Amino acid sequence: MTIAVIGPGYVGLPTAAVFAELGHTVWLLGRNAKKNAQLQKGEVYLHEEGLTELVQKNLKAGRFRPTTSYAEAIPDADVVFIAVGTPSGEYGEADLAAVFQTAKDLAPHLKEYTVVVNKSTVPVGTAERVAKILSEHRKDVAATFDVASCPEFLREGTAVADAFHPDRIVIGVASDTARDLLLELHRELPGARVVTDPKSAELIKYASNAFLATKISFINEIANICEGVGADVEEVARGMGLDSRIGPKFLKAGVGWSGSCFPKDVRALHHIAFSNNYEPQILKAAIEVNNDQRRRIVAKLRTALREPLQGKTIAILGLSFKQDTDDIRESAAIDLLYLLKNAGAYVRLHDPVAQPDTRPIFHDTAFFVDAYAACDNADAVVIATEWPVFKELDWVRIKNAMRQPVLIDGRNLLDPAVMRTNGWMYEGVGRAIKP
Ligand code: UGA
Repeated sequence: MTIAVIGPGYVGLPTAAVFAELGHTVWLLGRNAKKNAQLQKGEVYLHEEGLTELVQKNLKAGRFRPTTSYAEAIPDADVVFIAVGTPSGEYGEADLAAVFQTAKDLAPHLKEYTVVVNKSTVPVGTAERVAKILSEHRKDVAATFDVASCPEFLREGTAVADAFHPDRIVIGVASDTARDLLLELHRELPGARVVTDPKSAELIKYASNAFLATKISFINEIANICEGVGADVEEVARGMGLDSRIGPKFLKAGVGWSGSCFPKDVRALHHIAFSNNYEPQILKAAIEVNNDQRRRIVAKLRTALREPLQGKTIAILGLSFKQDTDDIRESAAIDLLYLLKNAGAYVRLHDPVAQPDTRPIFHDTAFFVDAYAACDNADAVVIATEWPVFKELDWVRIKNAMRQPVLIDGRNLLDPAVMRTNGWMYEGVGRAIKP
């Protein structure tokens, strides 16, 4: 088939590359000429395992076609995916400006029959609103279309592998023609098919992300109880996760969930509930527990340093919102940065891949490409991202270069017993001191 993917970001780019690899001709449409030129040369601007190889291979084969032109991408496409951003609006609602603008821009180029698919995470009812825009803005009155919802479940950092091995493919459609075309498009991929109506598909996406975020907040709450009673959350999570009804995934306690998806999607679902006269209590609690996890890290620093944080130097290891990505959107490290700076501390930041952006919060924050340099002369160090390379650091060398041996492990990466034996004042999240 010929398909078009609009929005060459963390969702659109891997999606386009994987469909090209499956043998389809894929137009990847983005408005940014610089990024488009990079893609045309096979240069991938995202940190995603396996993506560069896939892009280069399919570019060469002529199946992967980056473009900035709607006129080029849309008329021949059997299926058009909208994969643009839906950031949080002022009240936590999903901001659909980019989705609606995309619908307006693509409508005049529709020809014959096209299935337009919302891949962006969008509130319930968006498929209908996009259909209305397409009807109003199409030029060719003979052009027909269906609007479907196929939410994505890719994780950043493992998006390519996730796209090739989905647990399920959700197809929210209102017509048999669209259903058959989308089933055919995904034929080569494994995983269960969930064929449903567009509204249910839209809600499946929010409910899935909100459930995972709630699962993490739940284990973080258990971790906080562990700290009170002297139990170890790693042991508790292991014992819980072996129950097949619970499962072991997303039970890693720590500084809390962050990133470009969970925070905005949980807020958006909360907003959707309120707008439909329901006060969502579990979502509210999941958000509150998550905010508290950041504050608890700062409280641990205060306790360990036995004095106010004013004038103290704190090293934060990790800026990306999780390992294997350079994405820093709504990362826990940024929340910690705000909290520590408000408390009057100096912050020294390190990440093996991610970089600070232009926001004022980073202006007077020292950034180091070297972890050892970041910790030099610090009063305490906080691990904010679960980068596996942090485990391999020479922690004795770090301790010897610090003013005080205080380590708050916000990701439970290190072994508390080993660290304490090595002279660290070590605190993880919900980790007991074993006898
Ligand atoms: C998430 C979902 O997992 C994807 O299925 C979904 O497609 C995506 O959002 C999206 O909506 O686009 P992602 O945000 O890339 O994927 O990252 P996750 O691996 O889910 O991690 C989210 C946050 O939870 C990270 O900050 C991570 O460190 C944290 N986390 C995850 C924990 O604190 N504990 C865990 O056990 C797992």
